[in-house]
Amino acid sequence: EFIKDVTGVKVLEQQLKDKLKLDHVVVVPGDSDQLDWVKHEMGRACVQYLKGHLAAGEAIAITGGTTMAAVAGAMTPLTGADRCLFVPARGGLGERVENQANTICAEMAKKARGEYRLLYVPDPLSEESYQTIIEEPSIKEVLDIIRNAEIVIHGVGDALTMAERRKTSAKQLEIIKERQAVGEAFGYYFNTKGEIVHKVRTVGLQLEDLKHARHVITVAGGHTKAQAIASYFQPGQSNVLITDEGAAQELIREH
Ligand code: BG6
Repeated sequence: EFIKDVTGVKVLEQQLKDKLKLDHVVVVPGDSDQLDWVKHEMGRACVQYLKGHLAAGEAIAITGGTTMAAVAGAMTPLTGADRCLFVPARGGLGERVENQANTICAEMAKKARGEYRLLYVPDPLSEESYQTIIEEPSIKEVLDIIRNAEIVIHGVGDALTMAERRKTSAKQLEIIKERQAVGEAFGYYFNTKGEIVHKVRTVGLQLEDLKHARHVITVAGGHTKAQAIASYFQPGQSNVLITDEGAAQELIREH
């Protein structure tokens, strides 16, 4: 049974804020694992937060995934912030095209009436290709924007779900399981203590770049993602969480 009154949601938001030590938390009613429109509501809440915190000419780095696709779906013109620039946080992470950051980035920018730059890099990358590619001037230019973006908006996934969705090799999947990864964000896999146990080598935003951003907005919900969200927030990478009641209740209870 889900909360229907605003006070209930506000209490959950405050509890999560204290527990995860965040600046801002939004909890939308419902559980996106059960109802699709709940994801759309998270998207709307994210757009609303963005509008209140974005300045003209700023860069916004975004990841892929169905939750970020919902953010793009909810985007409307960012009239208060001209010339804002959308970029994908990381190179291709082997996902279906509609889940890729590039696709979502272009759609989001169009709906926001902003600009966008894309990043076309295969994934995973060998060490040699990685070193060559990051020296390529056109890539370097976009990478620079990504790594210095003022705003980062990203999803969090359950580790095994993400590994399977990305068609991770059997060898890497074994590592992910053996090291008991539970959460994933930006191609980094975390265990319950928040330790990085595996990382996909690709070009783009690195975890350490997050400290340069003014706002790091995590958008993730559904009760099945509670453990993944908790693992990502262990080292405290973001300052804003937009989630749903399904994940929030589970987070308060279990983690
Ligand atoms: C991916 C991001 O595209 O989306 C991941 O790169 C994230 O870091 C994932 O875990 C979440 O996907 P979804 O579909 O659950 O929103």
